[in-house]
Amino acid sequence: MASLLEMRGIVKCYGTLRANDGVDLDVDFGEIVGLLGENGSGKSTLMKVLFGMVKSDGGGIVFKGRELSNHQPREAMASGIAMIHQHFMLVEAMTVLENVMLGWSRAGVLLRRDAVAQQIREVSQRLGLDLDPASRVADLPLGRRQRIEILKAVLREADLLILDEPTSNLAPPEVRDLLKIMRRLREEGKGIVFISHKLPEVIDVCDKVVVLRAGKVSGKSPVGSATKAQLAEMMVGRDVTMSHIRKQREPGKVRLDIQGLAGEDIGPIDLQLRSGEILGVAGVDGNGQLELAQTLAGLRAVSGGSVSIDGWDMTKASAAARVRAGLSYMPADRSSTALVRTMSIADNLMLRDSAREPYCRNGFLDVSAAMTKARTLMERFDIRARDPSVQAARLSGGNQQKIVIARELDRSPAVLVAHQPTWGLDPGATRFVLEQVMALRDAGAVVVYISSELEEVLAISDRIAVLSGGRFAGVVARDHVDMGQIGLWMSERAA
Ligand SMILES: Nc1ncnc2c1ncn2[C@@H]1O[C@H](COP(=O)(O)OP(=O)(O)OP(=O)(O)O)[C@@H](O)[C@H]1O
Ligand SMILES: [Mg+2]
Repeated sequence: MASLLEMRGIVKCYGTLRANDGVDLDVDFGEIVGLLGENGSGKSTLMKVLFGMVKSDGGGIVFKGRELSNHQPREAMASGIAMIHQHFMLVEAMTVLENVMLGWSRAGVLLRRDAVAQQIREVSQRLGLDLDPASRVADLPLGRRQRIEILKAVLREADLLILDEPTSNLAPPEVRDLLKIMRRLREEGKGIVFISHKLPEVIDVCDKVVVLRAGKVSGKSPVGSATKAQLAEMMVGRDVTMSHIRKQREPGKVRLDIQGLAGEDIGPIDLQLRSGEILGVAGVDGNGQLELAQTLAGLRAVSGGSVSIDGWDMTKASAAARVRAGLSYMPADRSSTALVRTMSIADNLMLRDSAREPYCRNGFLDVSAAMTKARTLMERFDIRARDPSVQAARLSGGNQQKIVIARELDRSPAVLVAHQPTWGLDPGATRFVLEQVMALRDAGAVVVYISSELEEVLAISDRIAVLSGGRFAGVVARDHVDMGQIGLWMSERAA
């Protein structure tokens, strides 16, 4: 039998940029292929070509022995390819069953509602999806919604599933469940393309990896005994571990003072951070991380306690007033809160400063000053795009994230609140961001670094707090960390 998918010499150009430059990719039945590469290396583009969302400028695709060219997503689906999008295409007000029936030509005509419901229960049971046909999508957590997309793919008899960074906003237990589901799909003979920047996941679940660099295949290998360091080396060609980022530093005067801070689902929280200190906030997602970040940023009502920055009481200050007082905020959900996707890179970089010197003169934005500034930031933060006038939505996911990071760090804030700042970043970019946060701390700022990536928290924090049930279950100096104790704090729900 021919292999499931053969892509040969795929070329895709955007202007002068060769996003895919002669890429080959093979996937067999019952095989999970990891597609790796730096931010902007062309992974999503390759998958969009395969799914018929963008037209290639060269190369060929053979799927199940038949040529696929000039196709639309509709034809890709009909021939057995499914793409699980990162932003799910689900109607929240409808049930799982209704979402499955939606746009499925066989359902409704050939299949009755109760027959489809029965099929959903069967597939859900077989693959461990834990989905009830009658549940309303709006009531389901993110991980469960993603499984509806997988369910749809399986019911429509897809042979190949494309998963583009499916784990980047899932909590660790949801990630484990997803990897389990992927293994079951493999046992049923499905082929899977799995895109992820999290190398341990890739090693855990993939049979082989293909690495892209600047639109070309830079390496491929069976996963077998590959180590994280080897994969990272293939991706970026240098060491990108998180070692040796932090150096000892004596903290200075108190800059952020939080006493008994409380709000809905959070607190009371006490915290004093001194100039040159990073507090890493670890914990299982959903234990108040979002609430803590938003409360500090001034986006949530405070019901008790106080917050002050450099001695100024900010408890009742608006988000904008906090920004003026020197607070920077990197929210986890960049696509809806931190970026305006329809605006240019330059405008996104200027969002906070467009009304200030030197970018604003006599009430007008000095466009050339803004462009020059944007070019400098793009260079420094390695934001890959043709020029600053490109719309943010056109950048690869990781490069969009770098816009937010560049804007918030460049203001030299007194206080930085960062919530999952490295989501979607490749290992090289992740290390770079950690180094930049460290430089900010060395310049005397204080940082509240909220992340479910314990490795990152350990790499940069001076102190580590574990958030559990909306409170700090414990706070410990980095040099006295006991991993057993951290684990206990994480599993403890505050009463
Ligand atoms: N619609 C578009 N117009 C112009 N350039 C584009 C467009 N889509 C993608 N690109 C460019 O093509 C290159 C590859 O982008 P792609 O999204 O495939 O990267 P990626 O490997 O998925 O990166 P990430 O890990 O950050 O998601 C990038 O330089 C990106 O800016
Ligand atoms: Mg991508």
